[in-house]
Amino acid sequence: MNAAKMDFNDRLLSLGLARVAEQAALASASLVGRGDEKAADQAAVNAMREQLNLLDIAGVVVIGEGERDEAPMLYIGEEVGTGNGPGVDIALDPLEGTTLTAKDMPNALTVIAMGPRGSMLHAPDVYMDKLAIGPGFPEGVVNLDMSPRERVEALAKANGCEAADITVCILERPRHEAMIAEVRETGASIRLITDGDVAGVMHCAESEVTGIDMYMGQGGAPEGVLAAAALKCMGGQIFGRLLFRNDDERGRATKAGITDLNRVYARDEMVTADVIFAATGVTGGSLLPSIKREPGWVETTTLLMRSKTGSVRRMSYRTPTWSHNNA
Ligand code: FBP
Repeated sequence: MNAAKMDFNDRLLSLGLARVAEQAALASASLVGRGDEKAADQAAVNAMREQLNLLDIAGVVVIGEGERDEAPMLYIGEEVGTGNGPGVDIALDPLEGTTLTAKDMPNALTVIAMGPRGSMLHAPDVYMDKLAIGPGFPEGVVNLDMSPRERVEALAKANGCEAADITVCILERPRHEAMIAEVRETGASIRLITDGDVAGVMHCAESEVTGIDMYMGQGGAPEGVLAAAALKCMGGQIFGRLLFRNDDERGRATKAGITDLNRVYARDEMVTADVIFAATGVTGGSLLPSIKREPGWVETTTLLMRSKTGSVRRMSYRTPTWSHNNA
């Protein structure tokens, strides 16, 4: 049968996807806290690619390490898998938080999402303005056209609490200074993060555990699509608008098939069909624990989710190092 016509059996494929995320994390384990972002990233990329190529899928990377001319592996458009299986779109970030890994700071993850062909926005490698909240609120209770103050006040009202009870997660960047100041004026608390906005957005979906109610600010567009895939499984809303700094970036969007450059994408417009999502903790955080290494053994924890069922699994994997090194 033509691979593209075979069913996307998300249930069967999910364990394979978890393995891909796990192996990428294991490959970067020995590089946590070693100050070498590039080596950690490369190790995760190599392992993720190797594992993906073992899966019985006819996969195409739609969110990857970059354009073909700048990323030799897992570039946008690269075909992965054995080819003997369903046609799937893959969005991945083998190491989300390379600096977090190099500095052993919280919330570095390996991240991958898979869905049927055409299920994910082909976002170019530009910035995206993002806004996310967790599940349980009416659609559009906050939106990207609101000011930061309006967003905080609208969420507090919908939550039946004061603005001071809301915690907003924001990437600490000079470009966010005005936003941070405006959120502070409302009395809301801000969790500043130095990197890793996929995790930042995902934190909103488990606010009772993470303490974060809303994510806002500008980060990578590829990370925006990955975060949308995660929230499609966990519940919650995310809105994103692509941001362009020059003609080269606008050209990348056109090449990716995007015609309306000012469009605001809601979660289900970034991820239009049911997907599966896996993330493994590299460094520890409130979503996932870190990789644990002890003499002779290594252990990871992976979040494995399916949007069709809304199922969220946290799977721990322990393997002797001799087995992992020879796998
Ligand atoms: P890397 O893992 O590639 O280092 O990216 C981390 C990250 O913090 C993302 O989570 C975020 O979307 C983006 O970088 C923000 O970009 P910038 O550092 O340019 O503000």
